[in-house]
Amino acid sequence: MARKFFVGGNWKCNGTTEEVKKIVAMLNEGKVPSQDVVEVVVSPPFVFLPLVKSLLRPDFHVAAQNCWVKKGGAYTGEVSAEMLVNLDIPWVIIGHSERRLILGESNEFVGDKVAYALSKGLKVIACVGETLEQREAGSTVEVVAAQTKAIAERITSWDNVVVAYEPVWAIGTGKVATPAQAQEVHFELRKWLHANTSPEVAASTRIIYGGSVNGANCKELGAQPDVDGFLVGGASLKPEFIDIIKAAE
Ligand code: G3P
Repeated sequence: MARKFFVGGNWKCNGTTEEVKKIVAMLNEGKVPSQDVVEVVVSPPFVFLPLVKSLLRPDFHVAAQNCWVKKGGAYTGEVSAEMLVNLDIPWVIIGHSERRLILGESNEFVGDKVAYALSKGLKVIACVGETLEQREAGSTVEVVAAQTKAIAERITSWDNVVVAYEPVWAIGTGKVATPAQAQEVHFELRKWLHANTSPEVAASTRIIYGGSVNGANCKELGAQPDVDGFLVGGASLKPEFIDIIKAAE
């Protein structure tokens, strides 16, 4: 089954109203391949979601950067999946390594959040990835498999899931994984899905790469057979994000 190229822009905790308007204007002017070729999703901080959604071109979509693990209520500071659905936000990023490592989100917690978000009708960009220590210890595949397993055990369909492989050592460091390193892990993840879910899920689930992707390295990374797109951080705030989207061609 053909997997449509997917390019996500994770704006993380960046931006003022004025800066956000400028980024959206830049995106709206960009000439990119059609929606048949590439799916583009940008993820501003929660407070800017309605603004971005109202200004953004209709062929691009928005994602939240997180949501709560169950129905809302007495959870100060959290935003529920129901609220995102209410605002017509179609996507959410779950399990980003910054949340796993800084805020202590476990594999199980991330799996629960993915399952809850899906059950409410959201589409999920589920992040996995190893630290430098884990890579150097030779446990990359084991780590990403355990992270994926915690999700797989809790969901019944992968139709609305995109898996983002983001090696922690490559995030925001300028040390991008080589195309061969990315392909190797994407291949292993697809193999894991084949063995533990179904051949159909393995063939149809998009596995995108994140970690220091930029306008110069995107073409070669995107040409790898198991790399189905990108989750971009720093470069998604700049005009080169348009070049990265064009890597879909
Ligand atoms: O989610 C995207 C990400 O963590 C990669 O960030 O700045 O290395 O592209 P960056």
